[in-house]
Amino acid sequence: MKFRKIGVLTSGGDAPGMNASVRAVVRTALENGIEVLGIIGGYSGLINDKVIPLTARDVSNSIAKGGTLLLTDRCDEFKTPEGMAKAIETCKKHHIDAIVAIGGDGTFRGATDLTNHGIPTIGVTGTIDNDISATDYTVGFDTAMNTVIEMVDRLRDTGESHARCMVTEVMGRHCGEIALLTGIASGAVAVAIPEIDFDVEACIKKMIQLRAEGKRSFQIIVSEGVGGMKSDFGEELAEILEERTGIETRFNRLGHIVRGGIPTLRDRLAASRMGAKAVDLLLEGKSNLVVCEIDSDIVPVDINYSFALDKMYKKKLKDGDLDAFTEEQIKEMREFCARKTAYVKELYDLANALAK
Ligand code: F6P
Repeated sequence: MKFRKIGVLTSGGDAPGMNASVRAVVRTALENGIEVLGIIGGYSGLINDKVIPLTARDVSNSIAKGGTLLLTDRCDEFKTPEGMAKAIETCKKHHIDAIVAIGGDGTFRGATDLTNHGIPTIGVTGTIDNDISATDYTVGFDTAMNTVIEMVDRLRDTGESHARCMVTEVMGRHCGEIALLTGIASGAVAVAIPEIDFDVEACIKKMIQLRAEGKRSFQIIVSEGVGGMKSDFGEELAEILEERTGIETRFNRLGHIVRGGIPTLRDRLAASRMGAKAVDLLLEGKSNLVVCEIDSDIVPVDINYSFALDKMYKKKLKDGDLDAFTEEQIKEMREFCARKTAYVKELYDLANALAK
């Protein structure tokens, strides 16, 4: 099918690099004679008819900007039949033939709903969490981690001066990868992630021993999802550690600070490749795919496969969730989950082994 006009939107939590993806979508589409409309404010922009034409010049310099110039939203109305009807109306009114939706898991659910309602949609990753199992990498992850490292290095300065332990909580929702990788890269004495039970006693023992050997300051990185999103695991851990080790401890929650900032090269590159690929896929007549990075290649993965893989990895599969897949695909998913679990465990063990 030859498209004349496509829409592009960013949805869910913003991520550094989203603008680079939009830029790639706009310029690749225009190069192929396709007009581009920017949908403002994610899926709510589609519901409320907030669209603007985008030219190659409109996205000039955006590659170096954090946040999302198209603005974003977490839109519950889009999940309702009324919301979807309004969104489809907007597409019809502006002759939008297809959409590129940039975001995370929630964004891809919206993308598949749109495809099912007759608007071919492709998802491009844009989330700091790196929590989409089908892809090795999500745009925003690298910038967020570099911000964490910078912040922890600052905390190290003051921690070393005062001989304190600094417990730092980082975002990531149910995925501990930001904490795990930054824990290793910041030389943390311990890392707590949702994927692996945290051994408080071992941490206390290690800190007491290391202090006896002369270590002044300690960094501990905690992922926000440990104990569930509503728990105060990091804060409570800081109190326990101070009480049991006698080492003065401070808790810091980095929160949204890691969502902003100038995207790193890693993010600009992945975003550019993924954005361009999304348009190529639409031109090939494909939809309902998420653009992934696997072993450094930019490849499409079926969105439903991606959802099922996520559920399997997070052990949230329900009856019937795998019915649409072949034996071969299910085997492939299981192998992936085993590999990913081993990878996380390997990094976790490395973090602990290097903590001296
Ligand atoms: O998914 C990205 C993310 O930053 C998570 O790490 C975090 O849990 C969540 O979004 C925060 O959402 P909000 O910006 O809506 O508070």
